[in-house]
Amino acid sequence: MSIIMAPSLLAADFSKLDEEIQKVESAGAEYLHLDVMDGHLVPNISFGIPVIQSLRKKSQMVFDAHLMISEPHKYIEAFAKAGADIITIHVESDSNIDETLDLIHSLGKKAGLALNPDAELSRAIPYFDKIDMLLIMSVYAGFGGQKYIMDVNDKISEARRLLGPDFDIQVDGGIYLHNLHVPVSAGANVIVAGSAVFGSEDAAQAVRDFKAVTI
Ligand code: DX5
Ligand code: ZN
Repeated sequence: MSIIMAPSLLAADFSKLDEEIQKVESAGAEYLHLDVMDGHLVPNISFGIPVIQSLRKKSQMVFDAHLMISEPHKYIEAFAKAGADIITIHVESDSNIDETLDLIHSLGKKAGLALNPDAELSRAIPYFDKIDMLLIMSVYAGFGGQKYIMDVNDKISEARRLLGPDFDIQVDGGIYLHNLHVPVSAGANVIVAGSAVFGSEDAAQAVRDFKAVTI
């Protein structure tokens, strides 16, 4: 099965984002995964709307905004205007999930829903007909460089069974070339990798290596 590669910019060198993006885009990465953290829903702060808006001019990749923020409904329009193509909110966030997913679609964007490792799949099922992508976190949202939590594999398999073969199931956190087979065999097709790509010697080669793996 062929995977969609979504390098996470969180692990990039923030002093030269333009160059970093160029490396993964030229290597064929389809999505640019943008981890937005507010220090409230998750215990860390990353970057936000103005950074995404500036990067939009530099890349044709699908901008995949992973919003780890409280009250995401307040900011959806701004992220859409900044150039996000897919906007993913957390089921743990305090917005009305139905209304926020509708809002994302009303702005012509794709909607994703994310589950932290301890959130049961049943929490996402009511929204399956309103989402374009399910994000199953394989680490607790908040930091790059964590270890893949094997317990999420059953959740991935069950999601794949329920959503069918063509639905986009994204897995995020602790994925490297050596364990890529784990989420992919379980049923994931959109792979986020931060440390494994931007933390490596050669980000472009890392993307090519991920994309060359057949499982
Ligand atoms: C964690 C973020 C991830 C993270 C992945 O909160 O959502 O996207 O950057 O980083 P690695 O691949 O380093 O685990
Ligand atoms: Zn992420």
